[in-house]
Amino acid sequence: MNDNVVYIQDIAAHNGELVTIRGWVHNKRTGGKIQFIIVRDGTGYIQAVVVKRCVSAEILEAADSLTHESSIEVTGRVRADERAPSGYELDLTDLKIHQVVVTEEPFPITPKEHGIEFLMDQRHLWIRSTRQRAILKIRHEIIKAVRDFLDEDGFTLCDAPILSANTCEGTTTPFKVNYFNERAFLTQSGQLYNEATAAALGKVYCFGPTFRAEKSKTRRHLTEFWMVEPEVAYATVEDTMDLAERMITFVVWRVIERRSTELKALERDLSRLEKIATPFPRISYDEAIDILKKHGSEIQWGGDFGGADETIISMEFDRPVMVHRHPVGIKAFYMDPDPTRFEVSLSVDVLAPEGYGEIVGGGQRISSYDLLVERFKEHVLPQPLFQWYLDLRKFGSVPHSGFGAGIERLVTWICGLEHVRETIAFPRMLYRLTP
Ligand code: 4AD
Ligand code: MG
Repeated sequence: MNDNVVYIQDIAAHNGELVTIRGWVHNKRTGGKIQFIIVRDGTGYIQAVVVKRCVSAEILEAADSLTHESSIEVTGRVRADERAPSGYELDLTDLKIHQVVVTEEPFPITPKEHGIEFLMDQRHLWIRSTRQRAILKIRHEIIKAVRDFLDEDGFTLCDAPILSANTCEGTTTPFKVNYFNERAFLTQSGQLYNEATAAALGKVYCFGPTFRAEKSKTRRHLTEFWMVEPEVAYATVEDTMDLAERMITFVVWRVIERRSTELKALERDLSRLEKIATPFPRISYDEAIDILKKHGSEIQWGGDFGGADETIISMEFDRPVMVHRHPVGIKAFYMDPDPTRFEVSLSVDVLAPEGYGEIVGGGQRISSYDLLVERFKEHVLPQPLFQWYLDLRKFGSVPHSGFGAGIERLVTWICGLEHVRETIAFPRMLYRLTP
């Protein structure tokens, strides 16, 4: 063969050269004296052109035998061609087959419509499709953008444990684990640990998988999802809103700039994303209730928003909206109450535009030792397990705030997807633990 092995994404730098591409057959067409093999290598697609009179009988026979997803190495000369989607084609001179997918058991994912359950069962193969690849590329870009943003803003990555003796978001939804005959939980959020590391390092974030055993079947819930959680000492809820809008705007624009090909493949309406700019509108929970009532909702003050409510609120704005100061009763135990209005908390949720729902939840944490102890009692939480967390209110307690942004929710919104299940390679949901 030829040792000039290249990736399709770098093909422009090799115009006129003899190169080898290692990949899979995405598609094949025959047109009399010519065959076209569309090869994908994970970084892109290129059409290899087989001209019958220019190659040997063996190569022709090999090309004839190829089926969808057969693995091959193709060698050929790169030729710029305006009509080609990637701008280049390959005039094939040699072909090496690794495996031909046999026609008795063809690749199960075909261009025809498949039901979603079938596709989810074939997820390990489905991810090879153009659309799924585009989503996973954008997911990667979003994660990279989040990290770049926080790192450049002076944050220190300080990951929280996944196994923990205490829970963060209440006692109803953790997955329980047997930890050497002691009860442990899979983390629902790294926040409590972030509060400790923020007092050590100032501005920190954790970024990892989090787990929720809530039995929701909505299009927004996974049982395992990735969350980035920044936490800042001395920050107020208003500072947290500033941080959230800056981070979200940075991420959206990074994807627009670097992943336009993938956004186009997903037919995402770019004009909607291009509206994203700071400042985001900020409304209180009370104002959100007024919006809902104006639209005929029967929600009462004190109630939590459902998915439909979030959609109504977000439709009033062309960019993410920050809803702050929710009633204490619908928020977690650690939320600091507003000192001027004790019945509301210094919380904030960011709702994505176009009805994509909550993408960020956060707020200011209780810094008073006594109030926290009171909350443990109200929420019937085992105080001894949280003693370390209470210590933070004993040794140099300060106001501090932060938030958690769900990566899969961000991907759903930015890609414009119906359902969160396509935003991660192998989603975990109420009825799905395989593949
Ligand atoms: O609003 P949540 O529950 O907030 C917390 O866990 C805080 N302790 C975070 C913090 O302040 N450090 O979750 C935060 C975000 C949500 O806004 C949503 O984007 C995402 O995590 N999320 C989920 N994503 C997918 N599936 C689920 N079941 C999710 N639950 C929350
Ligand atoms: Mg929330």
